[in-house]
Amino acid sequence: MGLLDRLFGKETKEEETMTTEKLNIGIILGSTRQGRVSPQVAEWVKGIADQRGDANYEIVDIADFKLPFLGTTDGSEPGIAAWNEKLANLDGFVFIVQEYNHSLSASLKNALDFAREAWYNKAAGIVSYGSTGGARAAEHLRGICAELKIADVRTHPTLSLFTDFENMSVFTPQELHNANVNAMLEEVVAWSGALKTVR
Ligand SMILES: Cc1cc2nc3c(=O)[nH]c(=O)nc-3n(C[C@H](O)[C@H](O)[C@H](O)COP(=O)(O)O)c2cc1C
Repeated sequence: MGLLDRLFGKETKEEETMTTEKLNIGIILGSTRQGRVSPQVAEWVKGIADQRGDANYEIVDIADFKLPFLGTTDGSEPGIAAWNEKLANLDGFVFIVQEYNHSLSASLKNALDFAREAWYNKAAGIVSYGSTGGARAAEHLRGICAELKIADVRTHPTLSLFTDFENMSVFTPQELHNANVNAMLEEVVAWSGALKTVR
């Protein structure tokens, strides 16, 4: 493309695709526990996200990949490759994080450990829940993100097991969280787009 075309905004086909293609953001369910509440939280986040129309959002359930416990098998389970392939096709993440003994769930840590390059140079937001909003679990996750070159954004919706759930099992989020989820997604999309340029 010539200099004049560049100055007057004519894009090549390739550049046009780059600027109009939506990012793929995975909403990752952190828990695999039977009777878990995380699917309700993920559906709620996806509902807010889909209204924005600024990215392709999908729920990614770790349980679907049937990952073994790291190091206990020869690594040939198809779910391991499928998990890495899924992550490789995502530009950013929203982790749905629940607090287990003041940290993140073992299933999320295991899934984080099962990939490396597929996490690199991508952005992530965290939505957490627990008796204190899952704050301690989320802070532990931030340390892991640093090692996996995941840029975790600042805005962090924290949900209370006492005031955002009925009987700690039926998700009834307070209205005030909507603005926080939108602010978090705004940051995730911006940073995911920026980091795509360094991959
Ligand atoms: C083994 C275990 C440990 C837990 N530890 C904590 C904790 O330290 N802090 C907390 O706020 N909630 C704790 N909880 C409560 C969980 O956050 C709550 O059960 C939540 O619903 C789990 O997420 P899930 O339903 O998506 O699996 C614990 C639950 C279990 C089963």
